[in-house]
Amino acid sequence: MSTTLAMPTAARRRRLVERLTAWYAEHARDLPWRRTSDPYAIWISESMLQQTRVEAVIDYWTRFLERFPTIQDLAEANEDDVLTQWSGLGYYRRARSLHAAAQAIVRDHGGRMPSEDAALRALPGIGPYTVGAIRSIAFEEPAALVDGNVERVFARLFDLDLEAAALKRHSWELAEALVPDNSPGAWNQALMELGATVCTPRSPRCDDCPVARSCASRKAGTVAERPRPKVKQPPIEVALELALATDGDRILLVQRPEDGRMAGMWELPTREIENDAGSLSGLFPAEFAGPLELDEVLANLRHSITKHRIRAVLRQATGAPKRPDLGRWVAPGELEELPLTGMTRKVLGKLGP
Ligand code: ADE
Repeated sequence: MSTTLAMPTAARRRRLVERLTAWYAEHARDLPWRRTSDPYAIWISESMLQQTRVEAVIDYWTRFLERFPTIQDLAEANEDDVLTQWSGLGYYRRARSLHAAAQAIVRDHGGRMPSEDAALRALPGIGPYTVGAIRSIAFEEPAALVDGNVERVFARLFDLDLEAAALKRHSWELAEALVPDNSPGAWNQALMELGATVCTPRSPRCDDCPVARSCASRKAGTVAERPRPKVKQPPIEVALELALATDGDRILLVQRPEDGRMAGMWELPTREIENDAGSLSGLFPAEFAGPLELDEVLANLRHSITKHRIRAVLRQATGAPKRPDLGRWVAPGELEELPLTGMTRKVLGKLGP
């Protein structure tokens, strides 16, 4: 079923833009990527911010730009270095896409970030959201964008009782209609900022909202029901055994296969055990890569990878990988240089220096 939803009038659109951008000018968080106009630096921040919290991104963004200050530097880097810088942020396909896109920008655009819609869309890993973010924030082009924050703000502001796909579709129409010619970057960031700091998923701070007076769901008493709650899939519970095999002060690490999740990254030898759900997730091998003797428990930890909730037991181990091409003894000083999985980084961090 398709419904036609009313667009706000020109006068209401103007008022919303004025109020929200004035609020943003006063309340924007001071984030490092808001102090630069370098399209490359803004692109990196927007890529990292998809799926990752602002607080976690700040350090990664700073280090990434120290390591790869320009598109050229990123294009010339080897992929392992890029993944190492990304290690812990998850969704490693983003890092591979950034790297491939930097190479395409050097090849096709002389190393300068393009600003046109079609040229940006043609780059690996750059979808409609990132196109809108780069064009509006870095180039001040009146390009719309929609992310989860924007969808929530619109669902409440316009009291949209829509299921997820329809809300996304309608949010894009609203975003296109609302984006102003003047300061489109500030407007788009104001919308997202409102969603991140005031119009939050739970316990929104309506008393501090600059557009509360024109909020339709506030009037209707439906704020808590907008957006409609997603049908939640239960997490997939995964139980793992991790092996800490040492050779002097070196640690045995194994490399993940070249395809699939966290491809090519390094981790402690890992084995997925029969778990609560009675089925294996397929994210980890069912057997260690080599004959390992497991001994005392060193640590227990929890970790999440997208829908998977992991309980892991780290055990002291003796042995070596069955396939020497897969495993490697790694000295502590080398760990910084290897693209480790987030969980491995977490475990090694727990064990201390
Ligand atoms: N979320 C992602 N990008 C953002 C930005 N530029 N400002 C506020 N929130 C964001």
